[in-house]
Amino acid sequence: MKLIVTETYEAMSRAAYGVIGPLVSKKKDAVLGLATGSTPLGLYRLMAEDRTVSYRDVKTVNLDEYAGLPAAHSQSYAYFMRENLFRYLDILPQNTHIPNGVAPDPAEECARYDGLLDRLPRDLQLLGIGSNGHIAFNEPGTPFDARTHIVTLAESTVRDNSRLFDRIEDVPKQAFTMGLADIVRAKTVVLLANGRNKAEAVRRLIEEDADPALPASALKQHEDLYVILDREAASLLHETA
Ligand code: GLP
Repeated sequence: MKLIVTETYEAMSRAAYGVIGPLVSKKKDAVLGLATGSTPLGLYRLMAEDRTVSYRDVKTVNLDEYAGLPAAHSQSYAYFMRENLFRYLDILPQNTHIPNGVAPDPAEECARYDGLLDRLPRDLQLLGIGSNGHIAFNEPGTPFDARTHIVTLAESTVRDNSRLFDRIEDVPKQAFTMGLADIVRAKTVVLLANGRNKAEAVRRLIEEDADPALPASALKQHEDLYVILDREAASLLHETA
């Protein structure tokens, strides 16, 4: 594990771009696993601003999507990705993949996504982390060998994510998520965390053994894992405190 502790959110974002930018410059047809949430927004801004890098042949595969929200819904992750990243890049819409939140047959949609993940081995997977240690929408207790599935969101996740909705009642209770088995299959994994409310999950990830009670700990077995933090997210680590 490469643990990088930075001073600020901006420095964390720059450190992440220091991994992704050179990858896409070197490998024109890279496959990127992307994440939503507020954590990667600074990184996405850097990607959008750098006109020297082309995404013409890049493919992207997103981690998850709320069940019941169509891609046009302003709270869907498909909408988030278009608004915060894709519209600034020369990426082709048909090369960007996200689970279909309104698929008529959810089991079939999960199987379709698994097939896609098999066909498109990711060069890099970007991740945030939930305050309860979830990655994508793999909540505590998810088996490490899970593939794409539908999940009922933990109460704490609904609460955390409700800040982006008008009312907590509007937060969908279920989501499609890539499984932990697929997340760890990416060649390189970059997990970002900033802010005090991530510090305990980060501490458990770094200092404790792998345990399904902390889904992010599935990453501990990965051979090319970057954990990039700001000072607050690192604040409970014993060695760097
Ligand atoms: C959601 C997403 C995760 C993300 C997490 C943290 O639950 N499914 O992929 O990592 O939120 O979000 P934020 O970055 O806004 O703290």
